[in-house]
Amino acid sequence: MPVDLVDSFGRVVRDLRIAVTDRCNFRCTYCMPEEGLDWLPRDEVLSFEEIERIARILVDRYGINGIRLTGGEPTVRAHVTTLVAKLAALGVDLAMTTNGTTLRMLAQPLRDAGLRRVNVSLDTLHTERFSEMTRRDELTKVLDGIDAAIDAGFDPVKINAVIERGVNDGELLDLAVFGRQRGVEIRFIEFMPLDAQGEWGRQKVVSQDEIVDTIGSVFPLERVTARGAAPADRWRYLDGKGLIGVIPTVTKAFCGDCDRVRLTADGQFRTCLFAIDETDLRAALRRGDTDDEMAGLIERAVGAKWAGHQINQVNFLRPRRSMSQIGG
Ligand code: GTP
Ligand code: 5AD
Ligand code: SF4
Repeated sequence: MPVDLVDSFGRVVRDLRIAVTDRCNFRCTYCMPEEGLDWLPRDEVLSFEEIERIARILVDRYGINGIRLTGGEPTVRAHVTTLVAKLAALGVDLAMTTNGTTLRMLAQPLRDAGLRRVNVSLDTLHTERFSEMTRRDELTKVLDGIDAAIDAGFDPVKINAVIERGVNDGELLDLAVFGRQRGVEIRFIEFMPLDAQGEWGRQKVVSQDEIVDTIGSVFPLERVTARGAAPADRWRYLDGKGLIGVIPTVTKAFCGDCDRVRLTADGQFRTCLFAIDETDLRAALRRGDTDDEMAGLIERAVGAKWAGHQINQVNFLRPRRSMSQIGG
């Protein structure tokens, strides 16, 4: 029987996010520099067998019931469907966060391999702005990828839109309309200080309150209660046209309910998106640690999980790595 993996504040870990690669075919301005980052050499990236071993320890011993694959862009990892099939066999709620460019080709194979849910990043519906924000001219491909995900039967398909003041904050209503028309849940995300270039500033954050007021003034909304451990607060359109989510990391931290841990592409175990310290599970695997020894490292790391990020404190320290290297 699994036992709960509990941190020193009493929060139980249920959700594992695995970055399967640090590479990406986009260069989103809020995530990466234009020239990209120094990609990890191949031998520093965990193999599928190594990822499976760590996931299995977390599922079998501690009852982790959700796994989300992230990146970089998870679908640029060769044969990612093989990994999906291995993890699906663990019987967890298996999901992926993707930029959507490869979904026309991969949505069906991913679903057939056992992936249950996808979240697709889409920050703007304007061709030129899309090229500026992602530094790639691929809006059409992403829109097509979203349709492919719906056609493949993923339900729900959620859309992640990072909102940045002065960049795409004029598109809140257009994005909302897109979600209402396609029957997908748009999640508006407050811009977080995890960009590689250190250009984040409080003035660039559009708050949850502003987002909800702007959309609700045109399409009346009612709050859906019980967010649980998920980062998105949700609202329902009163006219029955679906839901929106808003992820308020900066203005309303939800760390008190956090149930997540992360594994980076190079096998570092992180207990917070904003953590400064990591536990080197790759080294443990490669020196031949037993499952018990690995579990000991995991328990120690979770025992030291901090209460929450300090974005709103003067002593906030940015993590050394950017979002794409941590794995969203
Ligand atoms: P669902 O299971 O569909 O709710 O997925 P999710 O929202 O947890 O995952 P997704 O990868 O789509 O992330 C959406 C946004 O939430 C991204 O900007 C993430 O970086 C952010 N996010 C995910 N996990 C955390 C976290 O632990 N803390 C904070 N502050 N933000 C997070
Ligand atoms: N702030 C908020 N969200 C971000 N993402 C990437 N960088 C940032 C940031 N600095 C989002 C992506 C993707 C998810 C994994 O994280 O848009 O949807
Ligand atoms: Fe790639 Fe996602 Fe980062 Fe954009 S946000 S550069 S799609 S990893």
